[in-house]
Amino acid sequence: MTGGRLAVVGLGPGAVAWRTPEVDSILAEATDLIGYSTYLDMVEARPPGQVRHPSDNREEGQRAAHALDLAAEGRSVVLVSSGDPGVFAMAAAVMEQLDRPDRPPAWEHADVTVSPGVSAAQAAASRAGAPLGNDFATISLSDNLKPWSVIEARLVAAAAADFVLALYNPASRRRPWQLGRALALIGTYRDPSTPVVVARDVGRPGETVSVVALGKMDPATVDMRTVLIVGSSQTRTVAIPGRDAAGVYTPRRYSEEPTALAQRTMED
Ligand SMILES: C[S@@+](CC[C@H](N)C(=O)[O-])C[C@H]1O[C@@H](n2cnc3c(N)ncnc32)[C@H](O)[C@@H]1O
Repeated sequence: MTGGRLAVVGLGPGAVAWRTPEVDSILAEATDLIGYSTYLDMVEARPPGQVRHPSDNREEGQRAAHALDLAAEGRSVVLVSSGDPGVFAMAAAVMEQLDRPDRPPAWEHADVTVSPGVSAAQAAASRAGAPLGNDFATISLSDNLKPWSVIEARLVAAAAADFVLALYNPASRRRPWQLGRALALIGTYRDPSTPVVVARDVGRPGETVSVVALGKMDPATVDMRTVLIVGSSQTRTVAIPGRDAAGVYTPRRYSEEPTALAQRTMED
């Protein structure tokens, strides 16, 4: 049997100009595009003959297995993720399928590759200035696939260690309270004036990016199309020439000991 290929690609957060040339050429050569329908809609129309397989957002395992089946049949399949496919996205779902003890032998016939994209936190950071300029931790607040107790433990550890925090999947209709709880936990380690970048639909129509003090954050203003960047003790605002709103950055150099607040909580 002649094998095909499965390319797992990142579309970036939305803007076509932020998509890599490699991903563009992989998309152009594909016979089949598979993905959550919202992300497939981000891919412009291709030559006739290319088949689209839209799916529900919660069918990750099935979607990955379907993509591998088609590639094993000799098709040139592209599985799309938003942002980077390795960050809370489809590359891990494909690896989980490949790691199955009952992995179908036919999948040996497929060449599997992963092609990177700009992740939401990177895009949001670029809009704000440079909030990720020093060490940061990326945490998904979704407790659909991991227990909330694990998320809380990670939030506490990362906040106590004074990482900047990039928070993905911050809230949804089915997860209404988690962000408020997360911000309260972080607030025990950070000054209420700590800048938080609230970035919604970055790189897409209707993009909004604002900077809010941690103590004034209203979780009700945040949804699934938003990524948050919570500053560390070192993160500060700066006037950036050419833009009206204040920018946010975290210096490369850690210029002082952590604030008394962070220091105290680290020693607790
Ligand atoms: C399942 S994760 C996928 C992340 C994606 N793989 C990435 O690297 O950006 C979905 C979460 O990413 C964030 N996100 C993705 N695209 C975004 C965008 N254009 N603007 C703001 N947040 C975005 C949101 O927090 C959303 O809930």
